[in-house]
Amino acid sequence: MSKDKIELEDLPGIGRATAEKLRSAGFKTVRSLAMASIDEVCTMAEVGEATARKIIEAARELSGLDRFITGEEVLEMRQRVGKITTGSKKLDELLGGGVETRAVTEAFGEFGSGKTQLGHQLCVNVQLKPEMGGLEGKAIYIDTEGTFRSERVSDMAAAVGLDPREALRNIFYVRVFNTDQQIAMVKKAEELAEKEPVRLVVVDSLMAHFRAEYIGREMLAERQQKLNRHLMDLHLLADSFDLAVYITNQVQADPSMFFGDPTRPIGGHVLGHAATTRIYLRKSKAPRRIARIYDSPLLPEREAVFVITVDGIRDLEA
Ligand code: GTP
Ligand code: MG
Repeated sequence: MSKDKIELEDLPGIGRATAEKLRSAGFKTVRSLAMASIDEVCTMAEVGEATARKIIEAARELSGLDRFITGEEVLEMRQRVGKITTGSKKLDELLGGGVETRAVTEAFGEFGSGKTQLGHQLCVNVQLKPEMGGLEGKAIYIDTEGTFRSERVSDMAAAVGLDPREALRNIFYVRVFNTDQQIAMVKKAEELAEKEPVRLVVVDSLMAHFRAEYIGREMLAERQQKLNRHLMDLHLLADSFDLAVYITNQVQADPSMFFGDPTRPIGGHVLGHAATTRIYLRKSKAPRRIARIYDSPLLPEREAVFVITVDGIRDLEA
């Protein structure tokens, strides 16, 4: 599945020892190096500035990140993007066809709004054949809150005609207990995606540990910096392996700030600009949920109604 078969050792100025240092610092692919800063490479690989510069330039050239492409080429790239159905046609339409690969999709909303349910549903649906709205791929689930339920996955899989056991075998699960582990597992996800046809990575929820570990104003800058790096890793993963990243983010419902900026108290500005597509989920008359696209460069700010049923995410029957 890997887009860059070229090893770090193939770059000028990188011997085995330097390559190992870079890998353990999280730069596992040429593409990730292409996006690194000179400072980072100097520090992590313990090389001089000139060497770092040479390494990065070579990595950029190899990854095609050192040149302009035409708008038409961008269009062609956009047309190759994969889409995973959410289980609801209305919600898919809202998202422009489903949850996209090569992008980070964030669902935010209050408790019980369906963020985790959608994560489960996507883990199932990514396995479907393309004509059914899937990508015939596997999923990685990084669980920070301990709310992954295999039984729920079984039920959802059976409802779409997949073998429940096989569906569960196609999900790689890890429970993480702090931000360091969360970050490390995203880097490990890259190794797994090299070997397995992973087309979806779920982080549920992105912010829980960051919120718990970094309390108070004086910690904010440090938190945002770490979070920013983590989000960059997720974007890189999405890009390098043509996979979809789905993250969740709990925010308190507060009608008074309706479309002020409901994420500000939690994610701050870094998160505000990090996800490619953001959907705001809110509860309506049970089992209804309302989804709204928020702050998208492409999609209009519309709403869609869907329901959470025994079978999973579905459209509201007319
Ligand atoms: P937090 O993680 O607490 O922020 O909430 P969340 O947004 O992740 O909510 P989640 O996706 O866990 O949604 C929980 C809701 O989904 C429940 O309140 C139920 O309404 C619904 N739900 C969960 N499991 C089932 C099920 O098996 N059948 C049905 N019909 N509904 C379910
Ligand atoms: Mg949840």
